[in-house]
Amino acid sequence: MSNQTTLQQTIADMVDAQRGILAADESHPTMAKRFQPIGVESSEASRRAWRSLLVTTPGLGEYISGIILFEETLEQMTGEDVPIPEAAWVQNIVPGIKVDKGKIPLALSPGDLITQGLDGLAERLQTYQVQGARFAKWREVYGIETHTPSRHGIDTNAEVLARYAAVCQSQGIVPIVEPEVLMDGSHDIDRHADVTERVLHAVFHALHRHGVCLELMLLKPNMVLPGKDCRRADPEEVAEATLRVLRRTVPAAVPSINFLSGGQEPEEATANLNAINQLHGNAPWQLSISYGRALQQHALHVWSGKVENVPAAQQALLKRARLNSLARQGKYAAEMEKD
Ligand code: 13P
Repeated sequence: MSNQTTLQQTIADMVDAQRGILAADESHPTMAKRFQPIGVESSEASRRAWRSLLVTTPGLGEYISGIILFEETLEQMTGEDVPIPEAAWVQNIVPGIKVDKGKIPLALSPGDLITQGLDGLAERLQTYQVQGARFAKWREVYGIETHTPSRHGIDTNAEVLARYAAVCQSQGIVPIVEPEVLMDGSHDIDRHADVTERVLHAVFHALHRHGVCLELMLLKPNMVLPGKDCRRADPEEVAEATLRVLRRTVPAAVPSINFLSGGQEPEEATANLNAINQLHGNAPWQLSISYGRALQQHALHVWSGKVENVPAAQQALLKRARLNSLARQGKYAAEMEKD
């Protein structure tokens, strides 16, 4: 199969009108942070148990079309000794891999960040592909302070995202391009909108310069929200601001926009997605999810590291996935949380 055909097939398997992506690609330190409140030590075995629980949830493929895995997980087995990527695909869930190596300060640009991991990326992708990965994810992070992100920070991050996406497509791997403008801080929704708009403009400009085919990538942006230390906005306000920014910046050729949850409460993230889909009008892209915390949080607490809780935790995950699938179609209502 040519690269182009491979990429087209992966997009076809991942993008439809009901489903979304589950992000389960936490690095070791982040996983330790997630396990800490439930009193579980992060180890190879506990991470394997948790991710095996996620991927073997019966019926998950009805709502989830892709799962982003961490490098370690590609080689792990489920309780039934099936490789985790294979167990995902049994449920029609396309396995993918987070390929960035995390963020560091951008040198000589105080307050700006940059993500590492481009060197040797093509060779790593070839290995991941053999292990079953068909798409990849790379995240750039932008914090909002008085003078950041700077113009230079925005351009430099865009360049890195575009280089990553080009390498992925050259290897037959669909890139998920994730520029995340953080919701940490006390900025209002207008400031978040302004920064997100500047970031997305720069990202698509760079993608164009690098020859990335927009039909064969996915965008994973933040929703436009007030900072965590600012007043909350209702879902209609979030939807309006988010769609305004996306319409101004994201070409119609992009097949799907899959939001990150970014620290929103699970119910809040679902309600916001629902409002976005109700308001989307004739938006040219699918508007879906690629949530980590907002999909996993409830299930993680139900599980609490105990094998006897696995079925109940899987039910909790399935419920969140189902409600987000409804929200993705604009058919969610808060009363459904009581089901
Ligand atoms: P959250 O939905 O928890 O923000 O995670 C999504 C993700 O993959 C961040 O890179």
